[in-house]
Amino acid sequence: MSTVLVAYDGSEGARRALDAAAKLARDGVCLRVVTVAEPVQAGRDGAPVTPDGDAERELAEATAMLAERGVEAAAVGRRGEAATIILEEAEAEGADLIVLGTRGLGAGKRWLLGSVSTKVLHHAPCNVLVVR
Ligand SMILES: Nc1ncnc2c1ncn2[C@@H]1O[C@H](COP(=O)(O)OP(=O)(O)OP(=O)(O)O)[C@@H](O)[C@H]1O
Ligand SMILES: [Mg+2]
Repeated sequence: MSTVLVAYDGSEGARRALDAAAKLARDGVCLRVVTVAEPVQAGRDGAPVTPDGDAERELAEATAMLAERGVEAAAVGRRGEAATIILEEAEAEGADLIVLGTRGLGAGKRWLLGSVSTKVLHHAPCNVLVVR
C-alpha cells in the first residue's frame, strides 16, 4: 500500500494538484488530503486568531471533487503553519509522495514557487510532485 498526501488550500494551483493526485489513485494507493488552517493574525493577547470555517469548507470541497471522480480519500484538517503540518503529516503517515501546487492563495506571484511548496521541497522525507 502506498500513501499519497495531497495538500489542498482551495487555490487554482491546489486544484491542479488534486487533479494530478486523482490520476495517481488506483488500487493499492491510499490518498490523503490535508488542509491546514493557518493563524493569520495575532489577537490582543498575542494569541493567534484563525479564521473559522475556510479550511473545513476547502477540505469538504476537495473530497467532493474526488468523490465525483470515484476516488476515495481520507480528509485531514489541521491547524498550524502549513508547511510544518504537511511535513509532519507526511512523516507520521509514512507518505511515499506529497503532491502540491506551485502556488496557492498567496497574493505575490513574483516567484515560481510559494513559501509552502518551497519549504516542503526542501524538507520532505519522500518524493514531491509539484504540479504546474
Ligand atoms: N494551508 C494549506 N493547506 C494545505 N495545502 C497548502 C496550504 N498552503 C499551501 N498549500 C499547498 O502548497 C501549494 C503552494 O502554495 P504556497 O502557499 O506555497 O503558495 P502561495 O500561497 O502562492 O505563496 P505564499 O503562501 O508564500 O504567499 C498549494 O497549491 C497547495 O498545494
Ligand atoms: Mg500560500
